[in-house]
Amino acid sequence: MAVFFNITISPIPKPPKPFTASLSPPQTQISKAPQKPQQNPIFKIKGPSTLSGHISISGSKNSSLALLAATLCCSGSSLLHNVPNVSDIKAVASILTYLGAKVEAFDGKMIVNSDGVGNVEVDMEEMKEIRGGFFVIGPLVARFGEAIVDLPGGCEIGNRPVDLYLRGLSALGAVVQLRDGKVRAHAANGKGLVGGRFRLDYPSVGATETLMMAASLADGITVLSNVAKEPEVVDLARFLIDSGASIEGAGSDNLVIRGKSQLHGSECVITPDRIEAGTFMLAAAITHSCISMSPIIPSRLSCLIDKLSEAGCKISQFNQHTLEVSAVPTYIGDNLKGFDIRTSPFPGFPTDLQPQAMALLTTCTGSSLVVESVFDKRMSHVRELQKLGARIRVCGSTALVFGKDEGSSLHGARVFASDLRGGVSLVLAGLAAEGTTEINNIAHIDRGYENIDRKLQHLGVDIQRLTPVACPL
Ligand code: EPZ
Repeated sequence: MAVFFNITISPIPKPPKPFTASLSPPQTQISKAPQKPQQNPIFKIKGPSTLSGHISISGSKNSSLALLAATLCCSGSSLLHNVPNVSDIKAVASILTYLGAKVEAFDGKMIVNSDGVGNVEVDMEEMKEIRGGFFVIGPLVARFGEAIVDLPGGCEIGNRPVDLYLRGLSALGAVVQLRDGKVRAHAANGKGLVGGRFRLDYPSVGATETLMMAASLADGITVLSNVAKEPEVVDLARFLIDSGASIEGAGSDNLVIRGKSQLHGSECVITPDRIEAGTFMLAAAITHSCISMSPIIPSRLSCLIDKLSEAGCKISQFNQHTLEVSAVPTYIGDNLKGFDIRTSPFPGFPTDLQPQAMALLTTCTGSSLVVESVFDKRMSHVRELQKLGARIRVCGSTALVFGKDEGSSLHGARVFASDLRGGVSLVLAGLAAEGTTEINNIAHIDRGYENIDRKLQHLGVDIQRLTPVACPL
C-alpha cells in the first residue's frame, strides 16, 4: 500500500516571553461556568455522509487544562493563545476565578493573573465534574502553602484514583489528609514544599503534571521517575520553563526539576489537539472520504497513522502541519481492512481514540480485537454502537469487533452519549449509518470538542444540534 507520509516537524512558532499584560478589550471576565442548559441538546445526523474539504484543528483541551492550572504557579499575568472553547475549559476557568485569580477570555485567548488568589479551598460543583480541576492541588500547596479540594470527577471510564498525586506530594514534604471526599494538603515545615524523589507506579498524565508544577516551586531538586511522556506533559513543561522553571527530561521517563522561589507569567500558544485531529482522521476513514486538516503535529499521532495505513487509507503530509486522509473507494476498493489495537500510554495507541477507532472497525472487513489497558471501564459506547447495528462482543476490557463482511451494518437509531470520547464515537458511527441517528446527552461531547457540529457541516455533513423543548403540562 502506497503511503505518502514523511514526518519532518519543526515546532509550531511560539511568541516571545515573558508576558506583561496590557490589554485592550474586547474582553470577557470569567466569573462562573455557564448555567447548565435545562434540556440537554441532541445531535441529529442524516447518513451516510461523504466528507470533503479542510478543517482547522482547535487547541488541545488537555494541554489547556494543565496550563490553566499552571498559571497558579506564576506571579503576574500569563497569556494563553488558541484555547478551545469547550465546557471543561470554562469549568477550570471558573475554579481559578473562585480561588481569586483574574481570568479574561476573548477570541480564543485567556489571560490569567493569580496574584490575587486568597482562597486555597475549592468547594464547587465543577471540581466534582472534571478531572482537570484537581490539578490545582499542586500549584496551590506549592505557592500558597495549602490546598483543600474535592476528589475529582471526570468522564466515567473506570476507577480513577489519585493515590499517585497524593503520595508524590508527600514525597515533596506535604502532609496530605483525605477526609469526607476532600483532600487537604499543606507543607509539613509550615513554609513550602521541598525537593524529593518519587517513582510513579504508573505513568499517570495528571499526576506527572501536578507533581511537575509542585516541584517547580519546591526548595531543592526533585527527581520524578516513570513519568508520563504524553505530548501534553511536554507542553506543560515548555510553559513552565518559559515561566522560569528548570525542568529536564520532559517527554522521557524521568524528570529532574530544580525548584525556583518564584515563576513569572509567560505567553504560550496551545498546541493542536491530537485527539480532535485523530477523531477527524477516523471520520474520513469511516465515511470513505478524503479530507485535510491543519494545524496538526503528525508525530504525536504516529500510532493512529500506522493503523489507518494498515487498514488501507492513504495519508499524505502536504506541509509541516497539514495532513490529508483519503479513504475514497477509488483508492481503497470496497472496504478498509480491520486492525487490532491495544491502548497504552504515549507513544502507544491513545485510549482517547479507542471508542472512535472501534466505530470505524465495525465498518471494516474481518474481525478486530480492541484491548483497553489504560482505563478499566472504557467500553460503555459498545452498548450504544450495538443499537446502531454494530456487532461487538465484550469481555472485561477486551472487545471483539465483527466487521462488515461478518454481518455488522450500521443504521440510524436513538443513542446516548455516556462520556466524551464514547459520545463522539457515536457521531462517527452516525456519519456512516444509513438513515437518521439521534445522539442524546451531547453535553459530554461539548466538554472536549469545539463546534464539532459546525466543523462537520463545513465538511458536508447533514448534522443538526437540537434543543428539545420541555412539554408544558
Ligand atoms: C488524562 O487523564 C487525560 N485527562 C485523559 O483524557 C486521558 O484519557 C488520560 O490522561 C490518559 O491519556 C486530562 O488530561 C484532563 P491518568 P488522567 O492519570 O490524568 C491510573 C479525555 O477524554 N491512576 O494517566 O486522569 C488511572 O486509574 C480524557 O480527554 C492511578 O492508578 O489519566 C488510570 O487507569 C479522559 N493512580 C491510569 O492511571 C493515580 O493517582 C491512567 O490515568 C492516577 C492515575
